[in-house]
Amino acid sequence: MSTNNAMVVGVIGAGRIGKLHISNMEKMKNVRIKAVSDPFVDNMQDLFQLGVEKMTKNYQDIIDDPEINIVFICAPTDLHVEIIIEAAKAGKHIFCEKPISFSDEETIRAYEAIKKAGVKFQLGFNRRFDRNFSKVKDLVVNKTIGDLHILKIASRDPEPPNLEYIARSGGIFMDMMIHDFDMARFISGSEVVEVFAIGSTLINPQISEYNDIDTAIVTLKFSNGAVGVIDNSRQAVYGYDQRLEVFGSKGSINVNNETETRIEIATKEGVRRDNPLHFFLERYNDAYIMEVKQFFEAIENNTEVTCKFEDGIMAQRIASSAKESLMTGQPVKVKNL
Ligand SMILES: NC(=O)c1ccc[n+]([C@@H]2O[C@H](COP(=O)([O-])OP(=O)(O)OC[C@H]3O[C@@H](n4cnc5c(N)ncnc54)[C@H](O)[C@@H]3O)[C@@H](O)[C@H]2O)c1
Repeated sequence: MSTNNAMVVGVIGAGRIGKLHISNMEKMKNVRIKAVSDPFVDNMQDLFQLGVEKMTKNYQDIIDDPEINIVFICAPTDLHVEIIIEAAKAGKHIFCEKPISFSDEETIRAYEAIKKAGVKFQLGFNRRFDRNFSKVKDLVVNKTIGDLHILKIASRDPEPPNLEYIARSGGIFMDMMIHDFDMARFISGSEVVEVFAIGSTLINPQISEYNDIDTAIVTLKFSNGAVGVIDNSRQAVYGYDQRLEVFGSKGSINVNNETETRIEIATKEGVRRDNPLHFFLERYNDAYIMEVKQFFEAIENNTEVTCKFEDGIMAQRIASSAKESLMTGQPVKVKNL
């Protein structure tokens, strides 16, 4: 990046993902983290050591700061739309965490604001930037396995989030499986046209009090005729389980879990390897860095962002259809753009 065109960033929401982006941006050249807003900034004084210049409880201070040209929205999802609209009106480029919102109408409202303002908007579907998954995408595009017939994704967290998070999360499809819905579209290069969902609450019965589940399977039909299946669990006791397989007319490709080392210990008792890396912070940190770098490059070079608003709309529509399918016990068609 050139040095005369600094990225002056404001981060709204400094929880798990906000802190991760701050810590990654601190190491990037030509990026100033001018301000962070969070109602709990009083407990976040350590952020000053990451180069944050100012902290505020009110995100409006970031929107109103004319020097800040880029806003990272890492607050809970139910705040995204209002912040997007205000930041767009103020002419800021926006990086927003997934999902955009829980409602199609609200998301379209934010979409209109972005189009009107003409600012860059990138959504945080970080897995697109994972070196393994992006390689699979290239191999599928190059027809290395011929025509795609089946896509399988296993996506399991090591532990469920706390109930406070669950209450505001929008449910397993909107909060968690939305990443996998995006991967399904990204890898297949085809739209999901129909879903069928089943699920249960097997890990923490209190999750069902929030009208949510912790274990789910969704089958997918793609517009090109391929089929897919995604399974999610909020608790894989052995670590963050992130695997993918594509199967086609000329072969298959597998992506297995990343581990701390590649060591395999074989004894009379058996063969042991490392567990998968613990969670998203460990597993996808390179991808989180890459997505932000590409976002900054798109701003600097005035090119298209890699993960667009429309990708967010579609993943959200698939998630809503999956929820409807779970409730009705019927396959549900996905509304196209
Ligand atoms: N891309 C990913 O892999 C990924 C991973 C985790 C979370 N997320 C998304 O990121 C968002 C945040 O999730 P999280 O896990 O960091 O949650 P979190 O609860 O850890 O953090 C959210 C933070 O926002 C703050 N906040 C609340 N109201 C605010 C306001 N009015 N202004 C500013 N800050 C406010 C909270 O105090 C908290 O510190 C969600 O939309 C979630 O879906 C994405």
